[in-house]
Amino acid sequence: MSERCYITTPIYYVNDRPHIGHTYTTVLADVMARHRRMMGEEVYFLTGTDEHGQKIEKAAAARGITPKALADEVVPNFETMWKRMEITNDHFVRTTHAAHKAVVQAKFLELLASGDIFKATYKGLYSVSDEAYVTETQAKEMQAQGLAHQLVELEEESYFFRLSAYENWLIQLYEKYPEFVQPEFRLNEVKQFVAPGGALGNLQDLSISRTSITWGIPVPGDEKHVVYVWFDALLNYLSACREGFWPPTFQLVGKDILRFHAIYWPAFLMAMHRQDGDDLQGELPARIRELLPRTILAHGWWLMGEDKMSKSKGNVVRPDQLLKFGNDAVRFFFMREMTVGLDRSFSFEGFMDRLNADLANGLGNLASRTLSMLIRYREGRVPVPATLDAMDLEILETGRLAASAYLEKAAANDFHGALEGLWTYLRQLDGYIVKAEPWKLAKDEGAQAKLDTVLCLLYRALRATAVLLAPVMPAMAQTLWKGLGQSGAVADQRFAGLDYDAPAPGPVAAPEPLFQRIDKETVMTELDAASAAAAPAAPAAELPLDVPPLREVVDYDTFAKTDLRVGLVLTAEAVPKSKKLIKMTVDIGFETRTILGGIATGYTPEELVGRKVVVVANLAPRALMGIESHGMLLAASDNNSKPYLVAPPADARPGFIVK
Ligand code: MSP
Repeated sequence: MSERCYITTPIYYVNDRPHIGHTYTTVLADVMARHRRMMGEEVYFLTGTDEHGQKIEKAAAARGITPKALADEVVPNFETMWKRMEITNDHFVRTTHAAHKAVVQAKFLELLASGDIFKATYKGLYSVSDEAYVTETQAKEMQAQGLAHQLVELEEESYFFRLSAYENWLIQLYEKYPEFVQPEFRLNEVKQFVAPGGALGNLQDLSISRTSITWGIPVPGDEKHVVYVWFDALLNYLSACREGFWPPTFQLVGKDILRFHAIYWPAFLMAMHRQDGDDLQGELPARIRELLPRTILAHGWWLMGEDKMSKSKGNVVRPDQLLKFGNDAVRFFFMREMTVGLDRSFSFEGFMDRLNADLANGLGNLASRTLSMLIRYREGRVPVPATLDAMDLEILETGRLAASAYLEKAAANDFHGALEGLWTYLRQLDGYIVKAEPWKLAKDEGAQAKLDTVLCLLYRALRATAVLLAPVMPAMAQTLWKGLGQSGAVADQRFAGLDYDAPAPGPVAAPEPLFQRIDKETVMTELDAASAAAAPAAPAAELPLDVPPLREVVDYDTFAKTDLRVGLVLTAEAVPKSKKLIKMTVDIGFETRTILGGIATGYTPEELVGRKVVVVANLAPRALMGIESHGMLLAASDNNSKPYLVAPPADARPGFIVK
């Protein structure tokens, strides 16, 4: 039986359309899947969408539609994009599929029965953006990065996963089976996180249910809880696995979601597979290792210059912007430019330079020269070499080494290195042509046998190249394959069966250009024009300041009577039937207050949660719309503008006095 290989991508959130990040991961997975098929492996390749959780609930609310309607609208964008990019996934999983939900609920109940999930009350700092509770250290890191507004203090009844109990086994997994996370430096990051300084006792149990949201898979039997979105999402790899393919061979993830995949995910699986008698403090049983993913492959990020791409910065590259240069070109660029694991900065200029150099010139030129010469000098028939001189033997040996190095690197998922090496070889072939001077040989009656050799070696080199490149550039490899007079699909070839010396079947065809050279200057001008058009319109001329005259002077003691405090908005909701009012609960350090603010013209309730504010804390309570407000928030405005909340610095703590 041929070897089986199960490859996964992360499942993508449905709050955005596909961007370069999604596209890169999916293309890498597809290249790996195609390559493994040509290695003779039986591949199951899974991708899909992650549709539950607070992020999606919020995005849908902002659009005024249900989360399911949002998902149904966005999912086809992914499916269509993958078709366009010739992605050969065997299945597309959606976490809203009934089959997936059933597996999540069943596994939840199993772990509840085994004691790996238990119910308790939890109080802690919660990161709204990560949808996860954070440790004190993480909270400090976030505060230092100015992300304190994304933290809220939550207290809730929650189901917990006994993550701490698996720390010993996890550490053994990383130590004894370092292939579990690749590349190696990413494994070190994970180890550092689980056991800084090699010390045990760092992992805390993980809250895996939520009562604060409703958009999720209900906890069976306790339906006011929904399953935490990461428990739900990670289980897609299990719920959508094809019979006989477990465990995953390669799971592709971006560096930002490595922790979830390298810590939580194997711990969930350990809990699912452990048996009575297994000792969590003892050795990790080999039987369990066999049931865990073989490798979590973590890649880096595409950056814009040195910057992270983000919707708010407006610097996100979308696949449509690249695909107009051809799908294979994009796939090639991704594989050639990015070293799996590292970050890489993207630029349109770099993109075009790479394609012009490697596809229009490099490969395209070599193919068209070779085919033209075969047609011109041999009427398209491929001759058989008579004798081989030292130069021929050298290029043959170079080719043999280049092909095996390519296959070795690609099998280790180093497509960057594999392609770099292959293109060095293509340049050596150009050098071989220059040295052999076939145009001179053609004119020399006595050099016809030598010309046969040169043409044949070039032909065979291109044929091997078409096979090697088929996973990366399926369409271009097929065009080349057909041009070389080969029949059938190049993707049906097997690397092991690659017969370098096989006779050529039919005559070669007139060369079809593999890649049209890009006129970089024209494209850059177009891009500049498009980005100028898309740039935000100049702000409308500001209205003159419209404020009342300065109030009468007060002495310090009068001012000092007002007690101003830093507060943290914990919850916020619109007050029904009021256009202006928002009802909030605000933590002011020593107590939590209900405060009404007339700020709905400036803020949505979602934007307020997690924000630090300045509270007038000793104002007499006042009822508005039947709700009593215990304080007031400071905001800046003039008579025309919306309110701008006064914001204390990120690391000011709730309760701090403002004076
Ligand atoms: N839904 C989760 C994954 C759950 S898997 C059980 C998720 N989704 S995502 O849509 O936000 O991101 C998907 C992937 O895109 C992540 O692997 C992330 O690293 C990747 N990328 C997002 N931006 C990226 C770049 N700029 N460059 C490369 N990949 C990046 O996370």
